[in-house]
Amino acid sequence: MSTIIPEIKKRSDYQQPDFLINHVDLEFTLAETSTKVICVSQVTRNGLHNRPLILDGEGIELLSVHINGIEVSNYQQTENSLTIDTDSNEFELRIVNIINPKDNSSLEGLYLSAGAYCTQCEAEGFRKITYFLDRPDVLAKYDVTIIADKKNFPFLLSNGNKVDSGELPDSMHWVKWSDPFNKPCYLFALVAGDFDLLEDQFVTQSGRTIALELFVDKGMLSRGQHALDSLKKAMRWDETEFGLEYDLDIYMIVAVDFFNMGAMENKGLNVFNSKFVLADAQTATDEDYFNIEAVIAHEYFHNWTGNRVTCRDWFQLSLKEGLTVFRDQQFSADMSSPIVNRIQNVRIIRERQFAEDASTMSHPIRPDEVIEMNNFYTVTVYDKGAEVIRMLFTLLGKTGFLAGIKLYFKRFDGQAVTCDDFVQAMQDANDKDLSQFRRWYSQSGTPKVVVTDSYDPSAKTYQITFEQQHSATFDQNEKQDLVIPIQFSLLNDKLELIKLGDAKQQQKMLELHDSKQSLEFKNIDSKPIPSLLHGFSAPVKLDYPYSQQQLGNVMLGSPDEFARWDAGQKLFSDCIHDLAGKTQQQQKDSINQTVAMFEPIIEATDISLALKAEILTLPSFETLFQQMDTVDIDGLNQSRKLLFKALAQKFQNNWLTQYSKFEKQPYAYQANQVEQRKMRNLALKYLTLSGQHDVEQLLIEQFNGADNMTDSLAVLGAAQLGDLDLFEKLMLLFEQKWHNDPLVLDKWFALHANTERPDILARISMLMGHSQFTINNPNRVRALIGTFSFFNVSGFHNIDGSGYKFVADYLIKLNEVNPQIAARIITPLIQWQKVDKVRQQLMQHQLMRIGDTKGLSNDLFEKISKSLP
Ligand code: ARG
Ligand code: ZN
Repeated sequence: MSTIIPEIKKRSDYQQPDFLINHVDLEFTLAETSTKVICVSQVTRNGLHNRPLILDGEGIELLSVHINGIEVSNYQQTENSLTIDTDSNEFELRIVNIINPKDNSSLEGLYLSAGAYCTQCEAEGFRKITYFLDRPDVLAKYDVTIIADKKNFPFLLSNGNKVDSGELPDSMHWVKWSDPFNKPCYLFALVAGDFDLLEDQFVTQSGRTIALELFVDKGMLSRGQHALDSLKKAMRWDETEFGLEYDLDIYMIVAVDFFNMGAMENKGLNVFNSKFVLADAQTATDEDYFNIEAVIAHEYFHNWTGNRVTCRDWFQLSLKEGLTVFRDQQFSADMSSPIVNRIQNVRIIRERQFAEDASTMSHPIRPDEVIEMNNFYTVTVYDKGAEVIRMLFTLLGKTGFLAGIKLYFKRFDGQAVTCDDFVQAMQDANDKDLSQFRRWYSQSGTPKVVVTDSYDPSAKTYQITFEQQHSATFDQNEKQDLVIPIQFSLLNDKLELIKLGDAKQQQKMLELHDSKQSLEFKNIDSKPIPSLLHGFSAPVKLDYPYSQQQLGNVMLGSPDEFARWDAGQKLFSDCIHDLAGKTQQQQKDSINQTVAMFEPIIEATDISLALKAEILTLPSFETLFQQMDTVDIDGLNQSRKLLFKALAQKFQNNWLTQYSKFEKQPYAYQANQVEQRKMRNLALKYLTLSGQHDVEQLLIEQFNGADNMTDSLAVLGAAQLGDLDLFEKLMLLFEQKWHNDPLVLDKWFALHANTERPDILARISMLMGHSQFTINNPNRVRALIGTFSFFNVSGFHNIDGSGYKFVADYLIKLNEVNPQIAARIITPLIQWQKVDKVRQQLMQHQLMRIGDTKGLSNDLFEKISKSLP
């Protein structure tokens, strides 16, 4: 490993800032390689002390420093700070500096995205723009002036309201913006470029008219409508569900092509990865439409949960992200199918969050130690964070939860606060002691809930016992008991619900807070089947010794749709895991037995088509992987395929029926169409796998006849799954059609990266030379290299180590271009804990190679140093 060890920051070391800045006047004169920044800050000393002012800054060329109009030179500069000694308690600080947006490939700070200037300041990107107190608890009002060439940059945007503008000599022009709200610098944004503009309005519940402006690349106007519609839905929903209204007169969204993450909630000026804005039937799938609606809503909801009330320090990130993800999940559920949404949320937890917690990157939703903050925009902080909020919602009920939210805003509007402050508001508004619940914020790891039961036929009593178990994680040895809400019900052998308790309620909620708790039920006529963890009421692994028959019963008879789906998934995964070590005949028998359990689902009329499709979808390889302590990669992959194929063949007639059953309508993103496409394309996959003789015909017909991307892409996916030669032919056609459309081509890159062919590495290397591929664009890199490392099981985990080496070689290059993306893509390589010893060594060897890279970024350093023994 490289020898300079970066600083580890600790949550417990938090100190108030020594100085505050309450007003900032920024002036930008934009030029590709030398943009001039003038930053005038009104600074006040915070408290009684004589410490110097220490500003953050990175890669900045300093021209001058003035205090109260007088140039000073008694300052010290380091790689990442500027220290200024002064006796004044209140002064105006003027800093003039130069930055180079063109060479900024990290996409943090001010950079160029396909000719347009834009910024990304969260978490600590503002320090790449000018020297500043780059921390979220320094809140200021911003006035921003942007000067640029008018022809190439007709739009000059920043936060808040446009207050003035004018012309300058040499065809330059300027615009001045003023944001009336206090904000931390991570919410600052600047965009300059030439765009097509989609305009609309929204009238708030109190009657104010808000101008909505959506900026997209030239020629993309027709692909912006869905995003704009989504925005209006989100604005309305936040009013009706949370009573929260928008607060500025204008809301702008800009779609850019080069962006590290999904999007950014800068006050009044969201910047989006164009992937989460642009959609039309030809180019976007149903999933894209869904994601756009969700991300647009997510960023909008941040205006209250994140911007009006923000984080005191970055360890508190889940304060805004967990809460905002919970809010966008509730919104999405209300916009379409709640159960399909819930299943999707749970998949993310089980595939990715459980994996993170089982790895050397394990951390609580409120981390304690950080080297590079960008490494903590994680599924743990976001998605487990949202599950923790959801548990509060479950424990307090909707009314109690909303009372807590109301108190939270009453207390903290305009402030930078902590996760504890949030929980305290929930506690006080509900008069409920949440001290034990708070451990969810400090404890990492996936709890296990072991359930046992016994039935006494003579006394007609049934006893059920819940025990919580916690094991050490890489970051924490000591674990404490948590508060775990467990929703469940009991079924009798006729699949009827057993009434529980006096209230004649049929669903119970146990608040498990001791290590072990039992419940006893009287007057029970036969041994019940428990249906457990309804709606995934807590982010835990559940352990109950279900028989296959019992799982079948829960799948068919539970009152909770999530529990029904989950029972089906467990039937599948039990079957897959049990195949190891069996003879071929035994494997056949047990597969047949499992497959037969799903016959009634095929026939079922009491579930939606969408849920049916979800139940008939196998658990992903990644989910199965997380269910085991040690994984035989090839064996697991093989077993999953055996069951997949058996389902295809056994229900071949059904797949044919489902495939031909629905009348095709012109594409619309509409619930009933979406579920029909989902079922039809699932059926197409199975048909392809079943070896149905004329499936090629079906595939070609659908490919040629499709009026939308969902159906075209489904053909490619099916042909790939079936390992048909047709796959290559159709891929070629697809590329010819879309070679000028990089967002669409990403789908094609990803499919290539996921093929299970021996030439996979040569194939990817060739694609890296494709005219649309560039290492500078995160979407391209994620599609090609990310898909390979995250999802191509046989290629990445090839026992000869070639997959690991390939990824490592690439990361060594990417480290120099974009450390943030490199640190994302290294994830599968640091998750070596469950694989066999041979692979573990191969993976660790590659990690060491990357670790020895000259100029290793903090991002990669943090992940590699934790991961190596
Ligand atoms: N706050 C943004 C969101 O969740 C994420 C931006 C984080 N970006 C980063 N480079 N760490 O909506
Ligand atoms: Zn967010």
